[in-house]
Amino acid sequence: MLKLVKMGIAGLFAVGLGISVNVLAADAHDHASDHAMSERLHDAVEYRQGAFIIMGWNFGRMAAMVKGETPYNAEEFTQRANTIQLVSHLPIEGFKDMPESASGKTKMDTAAKTEIWTKFDDFTSKMKALEDASVKLAEVSKQGDLAAIKPVFAETGKTCKSCHDDYKHKD
Ligand code: HEC
Repeated sequence: MLKLVKMGIAGLFAVGLGISVNVLAADAHDHASDHAMSERLHDAVEYRQGAFIIMGWNFGRMAAMVKGETPYNAEEFTQRANTIQLVSHLPIEGFKDMPESASGKTKMDTAAKTEIWTKFDDFTSKMKALEDASVKLAEVSKQGDLAAIKPVFAETGKTCKSCHDDYKHKD
């Protein structure tokens, strides 16, 4: 009788151990895929922010020339416009299939609103508006005529603002 009880207890213990080993294995697996997932999200957030930082850097220096805070330099202005045109194609890739990378849902350091993924078509068309405007801006910049540049520059700036108003949290 005592032996049976002992065996029973040993059996229970073995089963218990078996379960906890399985649970541990499952847990380790989840952590591994969670880790890969958050790495992927983290990289995507950094990628799109990197592209925006490059655009912001150039746009800010162009704005200073447009406002007359710094002297207008046609060559520099054109180079910056070309950079913005090139980089305008990049950020969208860092948003694709990344709804978990919105602020609030994760601990990701991002200013992206969750609405981006519920209205992704609208978000994409706002990105396209920037791409189109930056083509025009690069074109007009080549003429080296600040008066002609000003309205196109303002139009480009509006495409940034229109998207930020809807889809980016204020700093
Ligand atoms: C279609 C939407 C959209 C357009 C167009 C857009 N932005 Fe943004 N921008 C965002 C979003 C969303 C973020 C937040 C990204 C994040 O934190 O994950 C952002 C972030 C930024 C940041 C902060 C980057 C950082 O992390 O420090 C800068 C600077 C910026 N944008 C500049 C610009 C400029 C300049 C333009 C226009 C030339 C522009 N953006 C056009 C959506 C847009």
